[in-house]
Formats: sequence, structure tokens, C-alpha cells
Amino acid sequence: MVPTAPQIRRQYIDFFVNKYGHKEIPSASLIPENDPTVLFTTAGMHPLVPYLMGEPHPQGKRLVDAQKSLRTDDIDEVGDATHLTFFEMLGNWSLGDYFKAEAIKMSFELLTLPWENGGFGLPADRLFVSCFEGDSDAPRDIESAEIWQKIGIPKERIYFFPKKKNWWGPAGKTGPCGPDTEMFYDVLNDSDKGSHKKGGRVSQSQCNPACDCGRYVEIWNDVFMQYNKKPDGTYEPLKQKNVDTGLGFERLVTILHEKDSPFDTELFAPVMEFLKNHAVSFTSHIASCRIIADHLRAATFILGDPMGVSPSNVDQGYIVRRLIRRAIRHGKQIGISKFFTAEIAKLFIPLYENVYPELSKNKDRILDELNREEERFVKTLGRGLKELERIIGQQGGTVLSGAEAFYIFETYGFPLEMIEEELAKEGFTVNREQFQKAFDEAFKKHQEVSRAGASQKFAGGLADHTEPTKMHHTATHLVHQALRDVLGPHVFQRGSNVTGERLRFDFSHHTKMTPEQIKKVEEIVNTQIQRDMPVHFEILDFEEAKKRGAIGLFDDKYAQLGNKVKVYFMGDYSKEVCGGPHVEHTGVLKHFKILKEEACSAGIRRIKAVVEGIKDVM
Ligand code: ALA
Repeated sequence: MVPTAPQIRRQYIDFFVNKYGHKEIPSASLIPENDPTVLFTTAGMHPLVPYLMGEPHPQGKRLVDAQKSLRTDDIDEVGDATHLTFFEMLGNWSLGDYFKAEAIKMSFELLTLPWENGGFGLPADRLFVSCFEGDSDAPRDIESAEIWQKIGIPKERIYFFPKKKNWWGPAGKTGPCGPDTEMFYDVLNDSDKGSHKKGGRVSQSQCNPACDCGRYVEIWNDVFMQYNKKPDGTYEPLKQKNVDTGLGFERLVTILHEKDSPFDTELFAPVMEFLKNHAVSFTSHIASCRIIADHLRAATFILGDPMGVSPSNVDQGYIVRRLIRRAIRHGKQIGISKFFTAEIAKLFIPLYENVYPELSKNKDRILDELNREEERFVKTLGRGLKELERIIGQQGGTVLSGAEAFYIFETYGFPLEMIEEELAKEGFTVNREQFQKAFDEAFKKHQEVSRAGASQKFAGGLADHTEPTKMHHTATHLVHQALRDVLGPHVFQRGSNVTGERLRFDFSHHTKMTPEQIKKVEEIVNTQIQRDMPVHFEILDFEEAKKRGAIGLFDDKYAQLGNKVKVYFMGDYSKEVCGGPHVEHTGVLKHFKILKEEACSAGIRRIKAVVEGIKDVM
């Protein structure tokens, strides 16, 4: 029997819940809370950073989940058989509980036990593993290699690689990190260990799990988080030794369904079918079809997130706009002439709504936003067309310069093929060589930017856990409540971004705040600071927290799972669901000031504020 994708996801979670006493937690939002460094949740560990750093988690020390994740650093690779922007990461965690021996044993068991016995039934002789080879920061991970050998992976299938491959954690930043051990599945399975798929970097005899030829597919990563990287670049032992694991759900489904690509599995089937029926030629447009499917799945999840954002020109809004417009462009390329993005979202929602009920709850919003963005983009394209005509009108000859073509491409989102098509009608061509040069230069610049972004992808929660950052985090709770007192109970947090220098807080409210309202909010927060109230948290049942009036991102999935939540209390003034950390009493904040109040997006306002007097207490 070939299990379905939902059965595979469930099997992972049930294995850890039933066999090893983990608590299932719901996926956190795709939009990180409080976090100033990343736009999206990039891995399962991301929302759990406060707990990896030592804050107690309301569900205890063993957790398991499927986490919605999104990475844009490889966006230009999407279209091949493997890359995805949105993906689900299955993960199990030990927060200062079990460590290497148990984690590796659990991974091996789950991968190899027959399906009927709760595992994925992969043949053990096709598994390869890698461990950290050691450097001046941390020793060679002999321990993990020995555990693998004891479990049944022979020495020849255990590899040691340097930090670049076998280490998870902040690159050039602070935060929890440590060596990891990665599991690879040999998708070729021939007896000649040296053989590899064509196109790899290395010669056949050197083919090993580090080769990118496609023979070895990395399926799971167990990270042993035992260090904290400090601002000076050195590593100190963490308060507790943690395990953070990540198994790419789409890859696992691809392997278990014996397919070559996630796009060939049931996770994409109805959408690929739709594209097949609408593309002029599916086989010659396979990359475009994958890009459309990938980007619109990501857009569906971003727009349908409980913290959902709308397409715009900044931050997450910019990314979702880019994803949608890129999909539309490829849609045009494959010959779709009608509006189609909402049609595709309608096909994705039923595939995921059982696990991510926010998609059906926010269905109207997802479809509206897609239709509106498609309308806007068509208008932009129309303007681009006019501009193109103007340029041609002014120009002599019949060749459009590469720079002009690139300007049209960049400003109006016209792909080169579309520009050429339009020009052909007027008997014009494009200087392709020049266009390519301008494109390559811009691409390089873009890559530099996304590499800078990628180096920050490991951060989570607060920027750091220093006192000034914690103070601004505590101030965020006070201002949340004060805004509700002054403006009304319709005010809810819609985004938060905290550093040691300032806080930024987005909340639902339709009109600009008056100077009096701003002053009143400041006064209330300052009064609560002067009262010097103790700050503490309690771990409460979901229903109890709700009954006691705690505010926060209450997720119905918590109720379904019968979960507990962590509620921070600031004296008698504020109660809010939150992971922490916070200062111990409000008095250390000294003085609170709002610097700016502005519109953020439709129905959402944004304030920027600082806690002054921090220097006095440092
Ligand atoms: N955090 C690790 C990863 O994303 C498990 O691979």
C-alpha cells in the first residue's frame, strides 16, 4: 500500500507522540513574531528559539510538529525537479531532554520500521549519513558516528563534512547552534557505490552524499544544539542541550511515492493537471508550470496565514507580490490568457485545509487578493506596453537596445519573450546580448542581497536576548493593552518587530490616531512602568487562558490539540499569550515614547516606539 501524503505527515507525528511521549504543537505563523531579522519562518526551529535558549515551553520538553516554512534565497532555482519556496518541515524537539543517542535511534527507527509498525519502511541499506568533522570551535562528532554504527549503518556509509555542511546555526550572528548529522537516501540504488547521476560536480569515483548529482537526497537533519554563538564570534555552551530536527515533507512524499519530483506527487497533482490542460505545450514548458505551481502555493499560504499580509512594495508584501506576478508572467508564457491565479489557489486549498484550517477560514481573502493583484499587474503590463511603443517610436532602426529592454522588464515586469513578441509585431528585435548583460548584472546584485538575507535565516523570536531587547518586548505588551484601552477592543496585534533600539508594532485599527490618543497611550504605558509591576508567566490550559482574558494570537488548533499556552502577566495590567523572554519588572523600562504612527496596510496601523532611559540601567 502506498500511503497518502496526509497519512505520511500523520505517521511522523504519531510516531513521536505515541512512542516517545512528544506533544504535538500546531504550526506557527509563516510570519515570525517580534523578529526583526527575517521576513518568513524558514524552519521548524525558528518559532522555538526562545525555548531552545532556555525559556520553558508550555507543552514540556518533547515537541513534534509540521511547520509551514518559506525560503526565498533559492527562488531563481525553482523550476527544476527539487526546489520549492514554500515547504512543510516535519520536526521533533528535545528541549534539554534527550540528546544524540536517543535522537539518532528515533530517526533510524522511524525511517526504517515497516509502515504497519509505525515507520516509513525505507531500506536501511540505502541510507547514508554525515557527521561534523570538527574544527577549532567544536570537536569532531565521533559520538554520533559511533551511534550510527551501533544502530547498523556501516562505516563506509558514514561521512564527515566541515561546518559548511554539517552545522546548523547562525552565520555571522548570535544564537543557538551546533553540529548536525544528516540522513541521505540513495535514489539510484545500484550496487556500484561510485556511480552517480550525470551533471554532478565531482568525478564518478568521488561521488558521495556531498555530491549534488542527485543520487543522494538529503531527507532529514538532526541538529544537536548545544552552543550559543556570541557577538564576538565565539561559542559558549547553551544552558541546555537541545535536539532540533527537520525532515522535508515534500521530499519524503516524493521518495515514498517513488517519483522524481514533488511536482509529480499528489501534493501538486490537481494543479499540474490544470496547467497541463491550459498550457500550449506542457512538456516544453515544464519549468514554467513548476514555477507557477510553486509560487501560487506559497502565495496561497502567505495570504491565508493567520497573520496574513497583502501584496505591497515592502517586506513580506513585496515577496508575495513578486511570487504572484512571476507566476502570472509564466502563465502568459505558457499561453494562459484568462485570470488563473485564484483558480489555482482553489485547487490547493482542499489539499491542505484539514491540516491548515486557516486556508479555508481565509479562503475569500486569498481569492480576493489574488484577483486584485492579477488585475493590478495586467494594468501595469498595459502601461509597460505603452512605454515600449513610445520607446520604439522615438528610436531609429529596428533593434531595441538591451538596456531599454531591461528597463521595460524591470519596471513593468515584462519577460524578454513577451517584449520580443510585442516588438515583432512592429518589425523590431531586441539586442539579446546586451539584455543578457544587463540582466546578469542585476541578477548578481540580487543574489548578493539574498545571500545577505540567507545568512540571517537562522534567527528567531527576538533579535537577541539582551536587556534592551527584552525591555522593548515588555513595552510591546504594555502598549498592546494601552491601545486597546484607548482605541477599543478591536485592536489586535498584527505584527511585531523588536530590537534593542526600538519596537515596531502593527495593529488592527482603521483611522489615523489623533495626537491626544497617542499621548494617552504613552501616559498609560508610563504609568504602568512607574507602578514597577512584577512580570511573570503561567502555563495555562487554552480554555483557562481564554477565560482569564489573555490576549494574543489564539489559534483554534491549540484548542483542537488540547494544548496549554504560556501567558505573560505584567502585574494586573496585561495578560498575553507569548513565548518570552521579558524583563522581571516593568520599572526597569523607565520611560516610553511613541516616535511615529502611520498606515501599514488596509485597516492596519503601525507605531514605532522606544523605551528611553535604557542606558541608565545598563
Ligand atoms: N533546523 C534544521 C534544518 O532546518 C533541522 O535543517
